[in-house]
Amino acid sequence: MTQSSFPALRMRRTRAHAWSRAMVAEHVLTASDLIWPLFIAEGQGVEDPISTLPGVSRWSVDLIAKRAVEARDLGIPCIALFPNTPRGLRTEDAREALNPDNLICRAVRAAKDAAPEVGVLTDVALDPYTAHGHDGIVDEAGYVLNDRTSDVLVEQALVQAAAGADIVAPSDMMDGRVAAIRAALERDGRHNVQIMAYAAKYASAFYGPFRDAVGSRGLLKGDKKTYQMDYANAEEALREVALDLAEGADTVMVKPGMPYLDIIRRVKERFEVPVFAYQVSGEYAMIEAAVAAGCAERDAMVIESLTAFKRAGCSGVLTYHAMLAARLLGG
Ligand code: PBG
Repeated sequence: MTQSSFPALRMRRTRAHAWSRAMVAEHVLTASDLIWPLFIAEGQGVEDPISTLPGVSRWSVDLIAKRAVEARDLGIPCIALFPNTPRGLRTEDAREALNPDNLICRAVRAAKDAAPEVGVLTDVALDPYTAHGHDGIVDEAGYVLNDRTSDVLVEQALVQAAAGADIVAPSDMMDGRVAAIRAALERDGRHNVQIMAYAAKYASAFYGPFRDAVGSRGLLKGDKKTYQMDYANAEEALREVALDLAEGADTVMVKPGMPYLDIIRRVKERFEVPVFAYQVSGEYAMIEAAVAAGCAERDAMVIESLTAFKRAGCSGVLTYHAMLAARLLGG
């Protein structure tokens, strides 16, 4: 007997042709995996580019409606709205968050009018409305007060739901707010308004460009470490997710995205619920900076990074590259 001179199995065999690679692909990214975050500006016909997010603009309400139609036409199922509240309307008590005619409520109505088939997600948190840039109400020492903030968040969620939001997404990291919001929505007869909890949201250096986009960077005093999670922790993320699910969250989110694929995988395996990731502003900016520096090819990086979220266990991804990705995917 001569010794076999060939490998028993050649792993490269199924990789040899495009048709074969397609046939054995374990995960497939489609436009329906994408949620498109959009920033809203005051005015009419306004497109206001954000310098730290090249290629992303704030749009006035009339143009948000156009973006919603584009999302529908490309098969993107959901958009997420974030307002850049005028400076003069930002206060200690964030009362503009509760104005039924505030920027985000007007944008929700315009988007739902223009493209009712597209889901609209709204952020429940006070940072675009506070004079200090924190996500809640602060005491004299600057500490974000949990239960007082939660009371305001409940009202904010009700106002957004009344405007037509399909999903309210608490991104504030206060304890107990999911239960409070769920109970209030039920009392208000809004049984089918979903809650996507930013369950594992880390105090991250990757949010910088977002804070420019919503105009809170210059205002923010200190950091958000007393409410957002420490990036050293993973078990704590599982406890956060367990709590939010017990309180009535329909879906959960991990944020940021790419540096936290391990958290996504653990949440998916432990809870077997729909998990979403937010590929945040700093991640988008990193990709764009690499492209601008000639280090990498945009289209390939975008599709690879988004497919990695699927592989990690995500049902979908919030990404500023949603429109580009949907086009590349032939939506
Ligand atoms: C607000 C909020 C933030 C993001 C989404 N909702 C910023 C923050 O917590 O400071 C970040 C999104 C991004 O960076 O793209 N609570």
